[in-house]
Amino acid sequence: MLNPYSERTEWFEMLTRELPDMDIQLWPDIHNPDSVEYAVFWVHDTEDMRRYPNLRAILATTAGVEQFAGGDYPDVPIVRLADETMAGEMAAYAAHWVVHFHRKMDFYLDQQAAKVWRPTRATATGDFPVGILGFGSIGRHIGKCLAGLGYPINAWTRTGGEEEGVTHYRGRDGLEDMVSASRAIINVLPHTPETRRLIDAGVLAHFAPGSIYISLGRGATTIESDLVSAVEQGVLSAAVLDVTETEPLPPDSPLWNHPRVRITPHTSGFTRAPTAAPLIAANIRRIERGEAPFPVYDPRQGY
Ligand code: GLV
Repeated sequence: MLNPYSERTEWFEMLTRELPDMDIQLWPDIHNPDSVEYAVFWVHDTEDMRRYPNLRAILATTAGVEQFAGGDYPDVPIVRLADETMAGEMAAYAAHWVVHFHRKMDFYLDQQAAKVWRPTRATATGDFPVGILGFGSIGRHIGKCLAGLGYPINAWTRTGGEEEGVTHYRGRDGLEDMVSASRAIINVLPHTPETRRLIDAGVLAHFAPGSIYISLGRGATTIESDLVSAVEQGVLSAAVLDVTETEPLPPDSPLWNHPRVRITPHTSGFTRAPTAAPLIAANIRRIERGEAPFPVYDPRQGY
């Protein structure tokens, strides 16, 4: 059963091509609910899910899966989407803003408007550490990309890490140490009970003065009113938000027209059928062969 959020025809065609022996039924035209073994969607009505007694797995079309938290979904594995192409797009987005602020692009745009030719030295790349909050497949991809450009990489996770060439931090103390040791912070944390509203005034107070905050994971991890205060007080010199507490960002949000805040509408990376459908099909084939799909959502961890 397939209920894609967008690109309905493309998803249908891609999955049909990838799984030629399977009867792909595009919701709501489910002609034989008893035959449904796999459900592919972002969000779907939990009541409707009860119509499929032979369901074996749910395959999410998103990397983040907080939509399943506490939901009354059938007791089958929920498989997340780990799409390197999407991670690459997110890395390009993050790198764009790191370079933009590190290399003072706003300053040069203002100079161009005034026809001024006056170079100013930027901090050496090696002296501009970038901190990544959340170091799963997306965070690691971003880290690799920025390390490739010469930025020192700090990473904060729940459990620490061992990636070579990366300075790892964990736990609450680690969070404060990591943000104070970085010039730009990139937030790709999943939304879990532990990360919800994690970036608050207390954490922001530890950011290095004048640092940059780039949020492209989940808006619920950041308290926006605290973020605005941190920008006003100059703790942060700029904030870039691709995700917000409420999406779409409400028209009365002060974030919209703050001169040092940049907003994009949850577009740092896209789920695209041509790369995502083969990954989902590969997981379905794994289950068919009796192997474990991956990565599987763990409700206790929240991702
Ligand atoms: C998009 O936000 C995703 O989680 O895939």
